Amino acid sequence: KIPLLIDTDPGVDDALALLMALHCPQHEVVGLTIAAGNVGLRYTVRNALKLCEVAGRPDIPVFAGCAEPLLHPSPDAAEVHGQDGFGDVGFPEARTQVQDEHAALALLRLSHQYAGELVLVTLGPLTNVALALKLDPTLPTRIKRLVVMAGAVSAHGNITPAAEFNVAFDPEAAHLVLRAFPKFDLADWEATLAHGFLHREVEQWLQAASERARFYEAISRNTRLWSEDRRGDHWHSADSLAMAFALDPEGALEIAERPLGVELAGTLTRGATVTDWNRQTGAPDNARILLRYDQARFEARVRAALAA
Ligand code: BDR
Ligand code: CA
Repeated sequence: KIPLLIDTDPGVDDALALLMALHCPQHEVVGLTIAAGNVGLRYTVRNALKLCEVAGRPDIPVFAGCAEPLLHPSPDAAEVHGQDGFGDVGFPEARTQVQDEHAALALLRLSHQYAGELVLVTLGPLTNVALALKLDPTLPTRIKRLVVMAGAVSAHGNITPAAEFNVAFDPEAAHLVLRAFPKFDLADWEATLAHGFLHREVEQWLQAASERARFYEAISRNTRLWSEDRRGDHWHSADSLAMAFALDPEGALEIAERPLGVELAGTLTRGATVTDWNRQTGAPDNARILLRYDQARFEARVRAALAA
């Protein structure tokens, strides 16, 4: 099995991505490192533990990471995910406990344990990975593949006009990470918008007779209503698309390789990802940008994870 380490800030769409990963027979989730982002770390840790329990995998180690961005405090996304990050439905806490080891240290340890094999998937702000890199800049040499949900490759942002949430929350961390890895796979917000599901179909999938579907129906309800209100017929689940790309790279139908960096200083564009579409900088093509993914394959994976 392919070892998979997931850095995440659950989060409603993170939760679906985690169900997909835990359901995949070809991959072994070796740990969850938890970031602050969608909501505070206290909640994202609690949600990760709960999700593992609901998925029947309370054995997956969960490591708490950084409670704040590297430099500047940043607003969360509770408006989208609920004050507790899981739709404020008041579920009972998981019986399992978070590990003592810090997420950045766990990341480094697991990168040694699975050197050359480990697939690292990031579904939240990149604070933990940036910290790990500062502690040990050789980290990228041991990671087989890095898959990142972040950015808006043509500056069509979701949290500001130009920036996507995971980068905007901690631009310095994103800068450090995306600069350090010579190649990474990117599923950005614009790809997310191109791979929506119809709300009325999602509602049907959520009627599956499984504990996972019931749980997901409850925690995603308010977010789905919010999204229907704001964005119309289609529901967009950023982290699930990134996870489909991570678990099944063969499903990618179109990828563009380009140099990509993070804007740190802009007055309107701080946290934007800047793609050198015309290769004007001479910088190496570090980003493999997902443009099109097989929608039927994506859907099948989401539905299987919910129905399990
Ligand atoms: C990203 O931001 C978060 O709110 C989601 O969980 C996803 O990771 C989308 O911009
Ligand atoms: Ca996320």
